[in-house]
Amino acid sequence: MQERLQKIISAAGITSRRASEELILNGRVTVNGAVVTELGTKADPAMDLITVDGKPLQVSGQRVYILLNKPTGYITALKDSRERALVTDLLKDVPERVYPVGRLDYNTEGLLLLTNDGEWANRLMHPRHEVEKEYFVRVRGKVSEQQLKRLAEGVELAEGKTAPAVVRLVKDGEQNDWISIAIHEGRNRQVRRMCEAVSLSVVRLRRVRYGSLSMGTLKPGEFRYLSEAEVNALAGKVTSSTAPSSTTPRTTRTKNPSGRPPHFRCR
Ligand code: URA
Repeated sequence: MQERLQKIISAAGITSRRASEELILNGRVTVNGAVVTELGTKADPAMDLITVDGKPLQVSGQRVYILLNKPTGYITALKDSRERALVTDLLKDVPERVYPVGRLDYNTEGLLLLTNDGEWANRLMHPRHEVEKEYFVRVRGKVSEQQLKRLAEGVELAEGKTAPAVVRLVKDGEQNDWISIAIHEGRNRQVRRMCEAVSLSVVRLRRVRYGSLSMGTLKPGEFRYLSEAEVNALAGKVTSSTAPSSTTPRTTRTKNPSGRPPHFRCR
């Protein structure tokens, strides 16, 4: 069946739909030996020989969906000019060529999804679907009620104000507080920059939830395959927009002895 080239490439798990368009525009895709740079071009993966960077596209094969507990010190990319450790280095036993759904900074830890299903990844990452991501942030010193409120209402960043977020105090520590920030945008270094904007210094940043999926008990560097039900639930969540954070993990460490309101919801 004839389909648009960018759809075929992303469905083959090479990369997302948008990144596939870039590959085409940059002349890295051929169909039956001819370079194709037009985005509307259609091909039939069963009949046509499609290559990306000279390598024939593998259109069949098993779809895999992986949840990795990313440690700090790993880069969320498939290659790095500075030869730093890659998240895919942690997936040695995975024969499929998977790529990350979105990214976590080098110094950010926690829940990272990887897949070779371009369509699924694309849906999750598309801003229209607004999948909620929750982060636990350890900040230097104490957080004020005013700072929590400002984070929840949205803060002014260089490229514009952030959307309202769900923010709560998770742990009221002796030296450092932990807060939870749930956002549905995916701007570069968003949580760190939001904290900077309200004069909070981030000591540690961990993603604990992606839509309906929580980190669970995986140790840093460990991964597991998602079940079909999880894959579908996440996709279902995507189509039905964001739901309230009823799946938000509540840690046993949660406490609020200061009496400060722990939860700010601005939606
Ligand atoms: N926000 C950040 O600042 N960094 C990440 O890695 C993810 C979200």
